[in-house]
Amino acid sequence: MKQDAIEKIRSLKEQIRRHDYLYYVLNKPEISDQKYDQLFSELKKLEQQYPDLITPDSPTQRVSGKPIEGFEQVIHSIPMLSIDNTYSADELKAFDQRIAKGLSSKNYQYSVELKIDGLAVSLRYEKGILVLGATRGDGAVGDNVTNNIRTIKSIPLHLGKDAPAELEVRGEVYMPKKAFAKLNKQREKQEQALFANPRNAAAGSLKLLNAKTTAERKLAFFAYSMGQISGRFAKTHLESLEKLKKLGLPVNPHIKKAANIDEVIKICDQWEKQRFGLDYQIDGMVIKVDSLDQRGTLGATGRAPRWCISYKFAAAQAETKITSIDVQVGKTGTLTPVANFEPVQLAGTMVKRASLHNFDEIDRLDVREGDTVIIEKAGEIIPQVIEVKKELRPKNAKQFLPPVKCPECGSKVQKDENGVYIRCISSNCPAQLKERLRYFAGRDQMDIENLGTAIIDQLVDKKIVRDLADLYKLDVNALANLDRMADKSAWDIIDGIEKSKSQSLDRLISAIGIRHVGTQNAEILAEHFGSIDAIRKSAIEELTEINQIGPVLAKSICEYFRDSDNLEVIDKLIAAGINPKQQKTKQSDSLIGKTFVVTGTLENFSRADIEKAIKQNGGKVSSSVSKKTDFVLAGADAGSKLDKAQQLGVKVINEKQFLEMIGKK
Ligand code: IVH
Repeated sequence: MKQDAIEKIRSLKEQIRRHDYLYYVLNKPEISDQKYDQLFSELKKLEQQYPDLITPDSPTQRVSGKPIEGFEQVIHSIPMLSIDNTYSADELKAFDQRIAKGLSSKNYQYSVELKIDGLAVSLRYEKGILVLGATRGDGAVGDNVTNNIRTIKSIPLHLGKDAPAELEVRGEVYMPKKAFAKLNKQREKQEQALFANPRNAAAGSLKLLNAKTTAERKLAFFAYSMGQISGRFAKTHLESLEKLKKLGLPVNPHIKKAANIDEVIKICDQWEKQRFGLDYQIDGMVIKVDSLDQRGTLGATGRAPRWCISYKFAAAQAETKITSIDVQVGKTGTLTPVANFEPVQLAGTMVKRASLHNFDEIDRLDVREGDTVIIEKAGEIIPQVIEVKKELRPKNAKQFLPPVKCPECGSKVQKDENGVYIRCISSNCPAQLKERLRYFAGRDQMDIENLGTAIIDQLVDKKIVRDLADLYKLDVNALANLDRMADKSAWDIIDGIEKSKSQSLDRLISAIGIRHVGTQNAEILAEHFGSIDAIRKSAIEELTEINQIGPVLAKSICEYFRDSDNLEVIDKLIAAGINPKQQKTKQSDSLIGKTFVVTGTLENFSRADIEKAIKQNGGKVSSSVSKKTDFVLAGADAGSKLDKAQQLGVKVINEKQFLEMIGKK
């Protein structure tokens, strides 16, 4: 039996690794997502059955799920140098002259690469297994971010055969443009500070203490050089990249060889124009002498190697005119000024509008309707006004003043405590309700399919829906009577609403739109409280005691549940049958008198959580295995404690068996 499992696990791991490579590295998947998920869950099931067969390089072990307190420091075996910059063809030619002089020859080649806008990391593989991922830090010392690195799907946990005994790969972790745009959109909705560009977003994501969150950030990686390595690997840089590719590492496909500096300049010029078509951001090109021997001859200054230079692009900008400034009302009433432009081409797309973020920003820029402005794209994605050309301002242009009334409902507005945001404080503002409904029905919340913007607008305008809970009172006739609506689509919406009734507690918490509570905080609250009712009854002291919930958040949650309109909506939702529960570790006596030793990495529990669960159910926890130990609970990567248990004949259980013991599935 077990022999079969060993073989099956090996084969599944190999298949999954291959499909990861095809999907994440080559961008050429061979099977459907569904088929992939099947393989994955088959492996997971087997590993649950035989926890001692879980190895750290298994594809199921990318997210460890254990938040950590801080990062250890890592001293780089070979320093991670930086690169000198150039900004013009003339500077590139001067670099080439230095190379020719340094090598006393004209016989050399360059590699010309995209300069990926992310952050440099070093990955250490021993016998082909990923053992360490570190940030560059100051070049000499970086942070050990292995847990987070492991969540990046394009980074293999396990290299192909022929991997050198020791191999340090260096490269760039980056956030693709799409993932960046999505992350910022989410953050804007939750009134969190936006990331200025994909590089900051990637760096921020790699330095999170909870790897689960990093895994959600969809980071990616390109290898572009090497650190320490055992044995002779290659003679040239391009040859070494070929080898890395063969070992399963992602190497950027646009790397070119150039025979002289004129070719280099031509390639740089091409990419300066073409860069917007890529699905990740580049901020320039990197030019490197290809021969590794010649690199040795050229050497380095303290800061940067002499054989390498970057060519930095100028930020893409455009000039346009502001035709008008609108004020939009968000789901919690925040008023956001938005500038409308005369359409202009910028970094690959036609730009017509840009958020001005808040009224302080309008003041700072002194931007007015009719102004000619310079716009730039933050991370090539989100357009921003960066400068007003005051000399071109029309004579009659009036200062844009913050509204004193809500532009949608005419109610009073109020400035936030920190004075940055202005919000409409009416609880009957239809614009707010529309935004709340859109958010509630959104994909990451209740996920109500087909309930689109146009329908929500009509439902609110016709006063059919007056709060979130009214959605659950809708009938087909009411929907079918809306403009451009047929019976079939009305039924689809009803179906979607019905399905949403069984969404999980964390989704519901996120959906009701408590300020500052996004998906992540909703998960924490669901886990801690287990039901909407329990959160509603919680005092601010209990909230602030929860790790990860700060005072601002706690206050906002309390305020939400103190508002009588909100409480009415919650009551109506519960009455409509939307009252999901999340199981909490129940107190029981099922483990009374039993001593447990925990070893290895568990899938569902951090070390602190498992100890809590054992104690909450009456059991005791010990750190060493003896004859008095009743059970050794073994997770992935269990070591000497597992061996000892086997020697002493102590019963070894896996996580699933433990869950059964405490009465959980
Ligand atoms: S080579 C000693 N190649 O740019 C040379 N760096 O501004 C080591 N970068 O710290 C780096 N794309 O984070 C190299 N194709 C590429 C690159 C690249 C992006 C980053 C890297 C480096 C920074 C220097």
